[in-house]
Amino acid sequence: AGNRINIAIDGPAGAGKSTIARMVAGQLNYIYIDTGAMYRAVTLAAQRAKVASSDEAALEQLLKKIQITLLPGDEGQLVWMNDEDVTGAIRKHEVTEQVSYYAAQRVVREVLSQWQRELAATKGVVMDGRDIGTAVLPSAELKIFLTASVSERASRRFKQLKPHEQMDLETLEKSIATRDELDKQRDISPLVQAEDAILLDSTGKSIDEVVQEVVNLGRCKMAGEN
Ligand code: CDP
Ligand code: CDP
Repeated sequence: AGNRINIAIDGPAGAGKSTIARMVAGQLNYIYIDTGAMYRAVTLAAQRAKVASSDEAALEQLLKKIQITLLPGDEGQLVWMNDEDVTGAIRKHEVTEQVSYYAAQRVVREVLSQWQRELAATKGVVMDGRDIGTAVLPSAELKIFLTASVSERASRRFKQLKPHEQMDLETLEKSIATRDELDKQRDISPLVQAEDAILLDSTGKSIDEVVQEVVNLGRCKMAGEN
């Protein structure tokens, strides 16, 4: 009931943004948009084309050639780039290690933010990323900044590792911390909590607890309460 709103969920790596955002969207019958998947897809395309993150002109050309489509799937969102399913490829270690460098480039952020705004033009979207509440959808009715301690985030990610991508917990924690630092330090739309975002620390909380909190906050906004 009530008016459809847009929900922005930002925060560091492994905080549970995509898990929570997808489930909140499911409960509210909203559309879930994973903006990190878009940055990952661009990174994959650049790596394949051997375009360095510092080469703005080549990145601009590359961006003109790619179309990213997000589709709902049984076990999460499917990501297509042009006519290829890249859902698995964009989660590979090589992409994860490089994505923050490509995501720091102005041309990449401008193009992707524009696509993201178009996807949210019709309200009823739950979008997760790093700069949704601050830069992409500054007028989103509900903004959540989702965090958890770095050790909890690392151990959550550790449990998600597939057999072929094993890594020790310590290396994983370092990799997460490095990426957070790069995302916070960049010049253009860095990772930072929006002034009007609600801070939600999920350390020690279950997925269902967090989902319910966000859904309740969303329903209040939809009903026009604060
Ligand atoms: O799921 P995970 O936390 O590993 O990361 P992600 O959400 O898939 O995002 C991957 C990377 O894309 C981040 O580390 C950022 O460098 C970049 N990103 C961004 O700059 N802005 C966004 N709105 C979303 C992701
Ligand atoms: O998107 P982001 O990188 O923020 O996190 P994610 O890919 O959703 O990964 C978070 C992992 O932590 C998933 O395996 C979840 O099942 C788990 N988790 C959670 O998201 N929230 C909790 N309160 C507890 C566990």
